[in-house]
Amino acid sequence: MHSGLTKSRTIFVLAGVLLLCACTPEKKYRALSFFFDGVPNPSVRGKLTENATEEEKASAASDAGEAARKAQRARGEAEKEVYQSQHSPYVKRECESCHDRTSKNLLVTSKRKLCFNCHDENKFTGPYVHGPVAVGACLMCHQPHRSTRPTLLLKSTPELCLQCHDKREVFANENHEGVTDCLECHQPHIAEDPMFMR
Ligand code: HEC
Ligand code: HEC
Ligand code: HEC
Ligand code: HEC
Ligand code: HEC
Repeated sequence: MHSGLTKSRTIFVLAGVLLLCACTPEKKYRALSFFFDGVPNPSVRGKLTENATEEEKASAASDAGEAARKAQRARGEAEKEVYQSQHSPYVKRECESCHDRTSKNLLVTSKRKLCFNCHDENKFTGPYVHGPVAVGACLMCHQPHRSTRPTLLLKSTPELCLQCHDKREVFANENHEGVTDCLECHQPHIAEDPMFMR
């Protein structure tokens, strides 16, 4: 009885997502591309002449090593500032935990299932499951690698939410007068109540 109810709700929600996605082309989302490093390795050039002494060579080499280490540290700091969140398997360069290297740009499993290879699916089920979560559309809200926002978020609110929820409808609701941070009141994944209140 209970599971029957849950199932029909899921189907209902799935239909909702399909409807909403029809007016929100995946293309738009796909266009939000991944930021490549873009920071070239600063080249550290020695100033040694042909007839430099061994001591001069050793000292220059150690200067170069120190400069390279400094540049590396600076790059790390800069990345931390630009990217507020980075996905642990991405940082550890465990690319093959998600990508199948034998085939260009192919993932190890469908996008719908990929996240549950590591994140417990049970944490994404509950009395009420948000439409995109119920269908495994995690990438509508999260970046897989890293983000300039916290929690690997694709966008900030309200834009994140307004990808699917109609702006005029949302702001016609008096509960939403002047709000920008949708997460102040709503849960993104699951909730005890149908309005996903916190
Ligand atoms: C947690 C899983 C995960 C890990 C780890 C991961 N990726 Fe990805 N990556 C994805 C997903 C999912 C996409 C597809 C995004 C899409 O199509 O919307 C993707 C897309 C890409 C793309 C295509 C360009 C783009 O961003 O759409 C490249 C290139 C890429 N990944 C490289 C890497 C490299 C290199 C690593 C390791 C340093 C890595 N990925 C680690 C999940 C991952
Ligand atoms: C290979 C394992 C792996 C896969 C696959 C994976 N994750 Fe993660 N994810 C982790 C680990 C490890 C952490 C860090 C520990 C934690 O918070 O559980 C993490 C953390 C996160 C966080 C929190 C980041 C933060 O800064 O607080 C988000 C959001 C997230 N993952 C989303 C996703 C999404 C969306 C997918 C599917 C595209 C996915 N993960 C697939 C391993 C994975
Ligand atoms: C509607 C947007 C949205 C969707 C869809 C979504 N998330 Fe999230 N997720 C968020 C937001 C926002 C946060 C930040 C947590 C907060 O503010 O409460 C978050 C946080 C997380 C975290 C870290 C903290 C936590 O709550 O565990 C993980 C891991 C995560 N999401 C994984 C996923 C996975 C896996 C999916 C797909 C099944 C998914 N998310 C779908 C918006 C979303
Ligand atoms: C990928 C599309 C998508 C995104 C992004 C999204 N939602 Fe939803 N949301 C849905 C769908 C689908 C439903 C279910 C509609 C239904 O059951 O009729 C839903 C339902 C809701 C509900 C329950 C009320 C209702 O109309 O059923 C609330 C509240 C809600 N979302 C808030 C948010 C907030 C806040 C965000 C941003 C953090 C967000 N949503 C982002 C697709 C999305
Ligand atoms: C100050 C708290 C608060 C904030 C912030 C907030 N909401 Fe709501 N939201 C509510 C309340 C209260 C309801 C009505 C709940 C009910 O009727 O039981 C609601 C209902 C909704 C619904 C379902 C009814 C409708 O109007 O369609 C959606 C969708 C929704 N909110 C999305 C959003 C989005 C998107 C944002 C960010 C722009 C947001 N909410 C920010 C309190 C808030």
